[in-house]
Amino acid sequence: MIIDFRSDTVTKPTPAMLEAMIKAKVGDDVFGEDPSINELEQMAAAMFGMEAAIFCASGTMTNQIAIKCHTQPGDEVICDESSHVYQYEGGGIAFNSGASVKLLPGNLGRITAEQVKNSIQPDDPHRTNSRLVCLENTSNRGGGSCYDFQEIKKIQIVCKENDLAFHLDGARLWNALVAKKSAHGVLRAGSGGETPRQYGEVFDSISICLSKSLGCPVGSLLLGKKDLIKKARRVRKVFGGGMRQAGFLAAAGIYALQNNIERLAEDHAHARKIAGAIAGKDFVNQVLPVETNIIIFELKVGMTATELVAKLKEHDILGYAISKNRVRLVLHLDISKEMTETTIQVFNQL
Ligand SMILES: Cc1ncc(COP(=O)(O)O)c(C=O)c1O
Repeated sequence: MIIDFRSDTVTKPTPAMLEAMIKAKVGDDVFGEDPSINELEQMAAAMFGMEAAIFCASGTMTNQIAIKCHTQPGDEVICDESSHVYQYEGGGIAFNSGASVKLLPGNLGRITAEQVKNSIQPDDPHRTNSRLVCLENTSNRGGGSCYDFQEIKKIQIVCKENDLAFHLDGARLWNALVAKKSAHGVLRAGSGGETPRQYGEVFDSISICLSKSLGCPVGSLLLGKKDLIKKARRVRKVFGGGMRQAGFLAAAGIYALQNNIERLAEDHAHARKIAGAIAGKDFVNQVLPVETNIIIFELKVGMTATELVAKLKEHDILGYAISKNRVRLVLHLDISKEMTETTIQVFNQL
C-alpha cells in the first residue's frame, strides 16, 4: 500500500464520481453547447453569488487568464513572494501578460492591507503601473494557512481606493472555507463563519480548483462578472484551452461540489494528527501551523529533506522535499484513517 502525500492532486475518481461522469450529457463547449459544463459553471457562480464562470483545464490556466484579463503589458501585479502565480506558473505573468510583479514578504503566504497600500507605485511615468492584487487562500507554501477575512476586506478597500483589480487564487479555497465554516455548514452564514458568497462580494475574480482536495481528475473554474468571463472565454481560446465534449469532466466537478466539500474536515483532522507526531521528533526543527490539509516541517541540521523523503519511501510513504530542509505532506480524499495511523506509527519509529 503506497501512501501518497506528495500533493492533493494525486486523487483518483471514486466509483460514484466515475458513474456521474459516464452518465454526463455532453456537447461542443466552444459552441457553448455542453449542458454539463453550462450546469457546472452556473452552479459554481451561484455558490459564490457571482455572475458567471468558465471551466478550464487547470488552476494555472484560470489564474493566468485572470491576470491577462486584468492587466496590460507594463502593468504591475502585487502578490506575496511565495505565491503560486509567481513561483510556479512558469513565469506566466511575464510570458502571457507582459506584466511586472511586486513581491511582498507575507506571513506564511498572507499579505496585509498595509503592505499592499505601501507597495502601490506613484503616478509617475518612470514607474510601472500598479494594476492588480493577487491573494492565495489557502497559501500552498504557507503550509495551507488561511487569511483572516477581515484583512481581505481591508485589502479590497485599498484596491477600490487605488483602482486596482482584485484576484483570488482559491485553488484550495474550499479548505479555508471548511476550516472557517459556521455551525450551519460551509455554504450558509452564521456567526464567525465564512461563506463563498462573502468571497464573491469582495473579489473581481476567483479561481477555484476541482482537481485538488475535491478529488476530480481535471478542472478549475474562473468566476467573475459577465463581461470579465466573456473576455476570459476569448483569452482561453487564444491560450488553446477551448474544450469540446468536456462535460464528462464537468460532471465530475458537479459531483465533487455536491459531495466532497464538507468531508475536507477529515483531511484537516488527519493533518493535525500527523503533525502532532512529527512535532515530537528530535530531527524536526519546527512544524508550520496546520490550519488545513497541508503539513510543512523543517528539519534540523544533520538530515536533509531529500534524505527524509527517501527514508519515508522505504515505508511506502511518499512526501515532497520543497527545499533543502523542508518537507511537505498533503492530505486528501485518498488518504484514509488507517493510512493516517500507519504514517503516525512510521514517524514514531523513525
Ligand atoms: C495555490 C495554487 N494555485 C494554483 C495551482 C495550479 O493548479 P494546476 O496544477 O491545476 O495548474 C496550484 C497547484 O498546485 C496551487 O497550489
